[in-house]
Amino acid sequence: MKNILITGGAGFIGSKLSLQLKRKGYEITVMDNLSSQIHGKNPETDSPLYKSIAGQVNFINGDVVRSEDWEKAIEGQDVIVHLAAETGTGQSMYQIEKYTGVNVSGTAKMLDLLVNKPHQVKKVIIASSRAVYGEGKYLHPELGLIYPKPRNVEEMRKGHFEIQYPDGQFLTALPTDEESKIHPTSIYGITKYAQEQMVMTACSSMGVAPVAVRFQNVYGEGQSLLNPYTGILSIFSSQILNGNDINVFEDGKESRDFIHVDDAVEAVVKCIENDSADGEVFNVGTGIPTDVITVAENLKKFYNRDFEINISGQFRLGDIRHNFADISKIKSRLNFQPQVSFEEGISKFTKWVLQQNIRDVKFKESLEEMKVKGLLK
Ligand SMILES: NC(=O)c1ccc[n+]([C@@H]2O[C@H](COP(=O)([O-])OP(=O)(O)OC[C@H]3O[C@@H](n4cnc5c(N)ncnc54)[C@H](O)[C@@H]3O)[C@@H](O)[C@H]2O)c1
Repeated sequence: MKNILITGGAGFIGSKLSLQLKRKGYEITVMDNLSSQIHGKNPETDSPLYKSIAGQVNFINGDVVRSEDWEKAIEGQDVIVHLAAETGTGQSMYQIEKYTGVNVSGTAKMLDLLVNKPHQVKKVIIASSRAVYGEGKYLHPELGLIYPKPRNVEEMRKGHFEIQYPDGQFLTALPTDEESKIHPTSIYGITKYAQEQMVMTACSSMGVAPVAVRFQNVYGEGQSLLNPYTGILSIFSSQILNGNDINVFEDGKESRDFIHVDDAVEAVVKCIENDSADGEVFNVGTGIPTDVITVAENLKKFYNRDFEINISGQFRLGDIRHNFADISKIKSRLNFQPQVSFEEGISKFTKWVLQQNIRDVKFKESLEEMKVKGLLK
């Protein structure tokens, strides 16, 4: 399996994956529409991501919603890694048709071609997300395992952010494994689950091996500093380096599982190279929760700048409180072990950011957009 098509291969994970696979001797084709939200209006000058792959891979400026672009891209490929997507959780709640069009219909276009036209594709890897789990798995002190519903807005207005069961008991977050209940709290999460299930079902029926990777929060060098809708480390960084204080939602104790992009790439490489991945869904994370205050304090330390960390008490509808992965499956099946600690990763990331041309990321405008739609409280 030598020829690999990476959709969204000019993006954050895709560009790193493309270059890593090229170093390993694969022939890489990238199909990407160079979305201006990620790459700016002039990718040739504005996008370090696009510049990193330009001239290094076969590049098709194509859109996953166009069958003719897929047709061109699929020809001669052995493996497809389908990463191209709309990725903003909050944004997905008011651009519903766009998110379902790109993520769900875009995947349908690929599958229709694979089932109806001749090709040599043997494996399809689909990028899914921890967003499919919503809040994920929790422990009730008496009742045992619970998959809590989205939090009550009135309680959050009072500053009560931790997950409480209707009987008043507080729940403890547990690592979420692949068998955990699927109950996304955003349109984005719904589209990711639809994409993954469409690939798992349709590819299996046509004799193509499907694999789904549910990424936790991937961060690291290269993450778009232009996109105000996703990527907490890059959003905070652009605010800090533009001389602003940072506002932390809720009470700052909400947590995520941050995995460095090099580790996320290695997980996908293992899925490509191991037959034992075929037909499986894998969590890709570190299994370690880190709260948002810790993220902000680390940025303060590494940027060595003076700014305030304001705990705003604001919150976004659809945001979850905690989620971190149980990674025992990918560890045991694919011998995957994350290598980059959060401390090391954030050090690499901040050094990279300091070499970039930092612009105003339009974060305030993105919050205003959410406020107008009633999604930011
Ligand atoms: N980064 C994370 O933390 C994370 C977490 C969970 C899941 N994921 C998933 O991983 C994948 C890659 O994420 P990323 O962080 O690299 O995102 P990214 O936004 O950096 O990259 C996505 C790429 O897809 C391209 N794209 C967007 N719409 C397209 C279209 N219609 N046609 C062709 N190309 C299009 C963009 O130009 C961009 O280069 C996505 O599917 C995302 O949902 C990422």
